[in-house]
Parts: sequence; C-alpha cells; structure tokens
Amino acid sequence: MYLPPFLRSFGRMGTRALVLASPLLLAGCDLNFWRMDGHQSTLDVAGPVARTQRDLFYVTCGVTFVIFILVGSVLAYATLKFKARNDADEHAEPPEQGHGNPLVEIGLIAASVFALVIIAIPTLKAIWFTYDVPEAQKANAYEINATAYQWWFKFEYPSEPIEGSGPLSTGNELVIPAGRPVHINLRTTDVIHSFWVPKLAGKVDMIPNRGNRLWLEADQPGYFWGQCAEYCGDSHAVMRFRVIALDEKDFKDWLTAQKSTARVVAATAATGQPKPQFAALKEWTRNAPGYTDKYDRPNVSPLDNWKEQQFPNKDEDAALIAQGRKLFQEKTCIGCHTVRGHEGVGITGPNLTHVGARTTIAAGLLENNPEQLARWLRHPDQVKPGNKMYNGGYIDVKTRKPNFTLTDADITALVAYLSSLK
Ligand code: CUA
Repeated sequence: MYLPPFLRSFGRMGTRALVLASPLLLAGCDLNFWRMDGHQSTLDVAGPVARTQRDLFYVTCGVTFVIFILVGSVLAYATLKFKARNDADEHAEPPEQGHGNPLVEIGLIAASVFALVIIAIPTLKAIWFTYDVPEAQKANAYEINATAYQWWFKFEYPSEPIEGSGPLSTGNELVIPAGRPVHINLRTTDVIHSFWVPKLAGKVDMIPNRGNRLWLEADQPGYFWGQCAEYCGDSHAVMRFRVIALDEKDFKDWLTAQKSTARVVAATAATGQPKPQFAALKEWTRNAPGYTDKYDRPNVSPLDNWKEQQFPNKDEDAALIAQGRKLFQEKTCIGCHTVRGHEGVGITGPNLTHVGARTTIAAGLLENNPEQLARWLRHPDQVKPGNKMYNGGYIDVKTRKPNFTLTDADITALVAYLSSLK
C-alpha cells in the first residue's frame, strides 16, 4: 500500500514509541495503576502539607508540559519541513548558516526566566508552609516525638507523662488527632532513617545527633500507611508504620486507654475449652508475604478495623494468658520490652503495654493476628532479617548459639498473652 513518506516515518516513530511504551500499557491493565490512589500515593492526599506538595508537583508538571509541547512542536515542524525528500536533497549543500537572532535569543531567555518564576513562587510558598506549623495554628498543634531504631519507630507523647515511666510511648502505630496540626520531632538512635507518610506529608530524614522535625495534619479521621524512606540496613524495606487519625473524642479515649497499665485477664473468664495450638501452623518460608491485609476487608474501612482491634478478644483463656505472662518473664522478653504494670521493663524494643490493640506487628509488616504473631515469634529472623530480637535475644550474637528456644506450646501461650494486652 502506498503511504506518503511523512506517514511512513510517523509509522516508524509510532512503532518505536509503542515498543517503548509497552511496559506502561501492560501496567495499564491493572486499573489501580491509573487511579493512583494506593496506600502510599502522593497524589491522593489527605492533609494540607501533602496537598501543598502535590499541587506544587502539578504546577511544575504543567509548566514543563507546556515547554515540552512547544519545543516538541518546533522540533517536529523543523524535522518534517526540512527533511531530505530525494537524492538531490540528500546531497545538497547545507543551507546558509545563521548566526543568531538577538530577538529570538532574548525572547528565549525571557521565556525561561518567566517559566522559572512561575515555578519559583509556589515553590517558595510551599517551602515556608511545610517548614513548620503556621504561626496562627501553633497554639493548637499537638506534639509527638518519633524515634527511629533499626528497624522500627517509637512514638512518644510528651504532653502525656506517666508517673515513673516518662512520656506515653507506643511503637509503629502513631495515633494523632484529626484536623489538628501535629508537630513531630524526628530523632534516631542509630543510623539515618526517614519518616514518610505519603498521604500526609513528604519525607524528612532522621539523622544521628541532629534534631529534625516535620508537621502534618490529617483532614479527616483515617488510617494511613507510612514507611522508612532512607536505606538503613538489612530490613530497611520492611521498616514500616501506620498513622491513625482520630476525632477529638476517640483520641481522648485512646489516650486514656493507653495511659492505663497493662490488662490482666481474670481467671474466671476461662471457658475451659481447649485453645487451638499452633503446632500445625503453616511453615512460612523466608520473606513469604503471608499477611492477610485485614485492613483491606471489603465493606470495613481500615479505620473501623483498627477500632475493632481496641476491644478484648472473645473467648480469652485466662490460664493460657497467665502462662504466657510467665514465659514472657522467663524467656527474658521483659529485658527489652516494657509492659507497664506487668514485669516487662526493657526499653530496647517497642513498648508492648497495649500491643494487642495495634493492627500490625513487626513494624507495620505483619497483621496483628494470632497466626502472624506466632510466625513472628517463631521466625523473627526470617520475617525481618538482622533484627535485634533475634540477634542478641534468641541467639547469642558471638557464639550463634540459642539463648533460649520456644516450643509450639510456648508460642501459643505467648500469643495469647500478647493478644490480651489491649
Ligand atoms: Cu529505617 Cu530505612
């Protein structure tokens, strides 16, 4: 079939573009890709700081897109108009070369400056805005201390001191008041980490011996995904966390619950029914994903799922829980974890006083349910390679010999105990 030459060259370009773009088209089969509203989307934002940053991104994209269209059109026009069309064209002398046109050059410089100014104005405004809580709202800001460890996050509430125990402290799930600016002091105990909740605010590094900060605000109550965004060692990729924004009343209730000492399940609650043992638990292989993502339950929002998690489990076995509490002491877990009101006093690992009320364990990696908790207790090294609970806790780091072993029965009891800590 006859095609005019320019169409052919377009056809070639088109084919090449198609080949280049095919990975994108394949990705397009997954509709979620186009929606771009994933758990950690920076485009589907939920607060003023992230919104400012997203809008700035759009402005920059818009300006660069206009430049792309202008430059691309001129390039396409010149390519097509001045291309060689026959042998004579091909061997012709090049046309007389110009030596610049002052008007065009000054025009281009002016246009570039104009484009940069268009980008610079909102950029400067965004830098000021995201730097700290706006002056008018400072009095209303809530303060949090976030400290990074290899590989988990500690969150402290300096305005909620607990007698004899420092500020209220929790691990890997940061609960904040919705609709209020939250000022977060960022610290690290070891290497550089980075604090990032994409839907609420851009990332800020947590640097040794240097105080950093950021502020964020959630427009509405919600459940948000966060993670460490700076390479920090073996398990950097699984150093995650969650942010739960609650309305004023829920937040107050949560603070009250968190400030209480650890729950004790009364012996009378025992039903006498044998509890399922985990001996037949699926054998997880190293790095198997395995989490069930309960927070993605159909018809139940992740936030409602989190709220459900605050209530004690049905059919608790008081005897088993008591046995777990004893094991928690005997297996030396108490040396690294605090369980306020119980025996745990350690500060190396996350505070577990209310760990049963969290939706995740192992720094936001696994869903907090008996199966995953058992998996974590049995194979912490496989879930999170390099972690200190295993290296130093379970095994002696020097001799690589076990400090203790956990039987299936031990794990069952420990799971019952930890799950009861609501
Ligand atoms: Cu902490 Cu990456």
